[in-house]
Amino acid sequence: MKVEDIKNIAVIGAGNMGHQISLLCAIHGYKTVCTDINEEILKKAEAFADKYLPGRVEKGKLTEEQARAARANITFTSSLEEAVKDADYVIEAVLEVLDLKRKIFKDLDKLTPPHAILATNSSAIVSSRIADVTSRPEKVLNLHFFNPALVMKLVEVVQGPHVSDETALVSFALCEKLDKVPVHLKKEVEGFLLNRIFAAITREALWLLEMGVASFEDIDKAQVFGAGHPMGTFRLMDLTGIDLTYIMGMEAFRATGDRSLLPSPSVVEKYVKGEYGQKTGKGWYDYTQE
Ligand SMILES: NC(=O)c1ccc[n+]([C@@H]2O[C@H](COP(=O)([O-])OP(=O)(O)OC[C@H]3O[C@@H](n4cnc5c(N)ncnc54)[C@H](O)[C@@H]3O)[C@@H](O)[C@H]2O)c1
Repeated sequence: MKVEDIKNIAVIGAGNMGHQISLLCAIHGYKTVCTDINEEILKKAEAFADKYLPGRVEKGKLTEEQARAARANITFTSSLEEAVKDADYVIEAVLEVLDLKRKIFKDLDKLTPPHAILATNSSAIVSSRIADVTSRPEKVLNLHFFNPALVMKLVEVVQGPHVSDETALVSFALCEKLDKVPVHLKKEVEGFLLNRIFAAITREALWLLEMGVASFEDIDKAQVFGAGHPMGTFRLMDLTGIDLTYIMGMEAFRATGDRSLLPSPSVVEKYVKGEYGQKTGKGWYDYTQE
């Protein structure tokens, strides 16, 4: 398959990542179907598209015609079968739970055309832990977008040992068509490039907080004003979801047995309280007044 053969893209999951990845594809000319099991989330994703596109026109980033075309390119459905039946390329963005992803890829293998490439947007789970449930492991890879996917340029294209050169090349080229900056990981490693670097920073920031060395606000300030980071660890965790930080820690522990990778006590506390960050109105910071 060549990148030019990709016409139809399906995005599985319309949450934090999926609703933006699907809109990104639609804006760049792909017939895109976004699917989720949760009707409310789908409605929110559709409402986002209806608000975002005119906003881009107002800002002069899209012409009215481009916005209209993008809107016409994207559809929303709760039927997985309907969403993927004509897909040339699938991007899965459901919860970071291995068993769920394995189940979805098993279904995708049956429901998609045989030529379709099946990508996971997982933040940490390598595709070799998923590809074996399909009959086409050479077409299953990690394609890791960053949050917010409409804005962040980086995409990690991860070529595990089972992934064909063709799949990696086509995926890399697709990212360029989406106006992203792809990087090619020649080996698969849990957490990929940037999340491994961030994990080290996050571990240290949490240790400093939990040892009472500084408040989370001051740790964030140190990163922003001393290192030039656009936001500190705690603000970033609120944006990406503290639930995701928790789940990733649990998954990393399950995958390796390494207790040092378990989520730290303050993250567990937030998770148990349901304070996940921006999406719940409260995380490290309070968003209820915004
Ligand atoms: N949040 C981030 O900053 C970020 C960044 C990069 C990658 N990721 C990865 O992207 C993936 C999605 O993360 P998110 O933050 O968007 O999660 P999210 O919780 O916001 O959204 C996940 C969505 O998946 C849906 N879902 C669950 N089971 C489903 C099924 N069987 N079929 C269809 N939809 C289903 C849920 O209803 C939910 O809307 C995860 O693998 C995560 O690791 C997240």
